[in-house]
Amino acid sequence: MNATHETVQRDEAGIRLLREQAAQAAHHSYAPYSRYHVGAAVLLEDGRIVTGCNVENVSYRLSVCAEQAAIARAVSEFGAHIRIVAVAVANSDSDLACQPCGACRQTIAEFADASCRIFYPSDGGKPGECTLADLLPASFSQESLH
Ligand code: THU
Repeated sequence: MNATHETVQRDEAGIRLLREQAAQAAHHSYAPYSRYHVGAAVLLEDGRIVTGCNVENVSYRLSVCAEQAAIARAVSEFGAHIRIVAVAVANSDSDLACQPCGACRQTIAEFADASCRIFYPSDGGKPGECTLADLLPASFSQESLH
């Protein structure tokens, strides 16, 4: 059975909820090795929010990032046609910065346009915002294959 997902507008209240959902998701994180608990929430173009958290493994390189978990869940539940319009990332330590890692940027790009908004804790935990284009300029994309 599918989980229920919050549906929001793309306004400031919706973005606040997106950030809150990312912070909530961080509480489910399994990070016994790094102790860096990350949550992510992706906002789909129809307003649905899907969350994920990082899931580490004793064989470290098998660890899954929160953004990738959220995106895999969104595709699993709603199908390959999903489009992501915004992503929020949070960690359980509000003082630490947490921008999506390089692999997550590429994973987001698979399902988002360059204008996709990215929300993250910046220096000192202050709310940061940028676009996917800021994080992944000159990206390798499907157009690159043709
Ligand atoms: N992590 C994420 O979940 N997302 C990111 O974008 C950066 C890193 C996780 C991976 C690992 O479990 C922990 O944070 C420390 O790197």
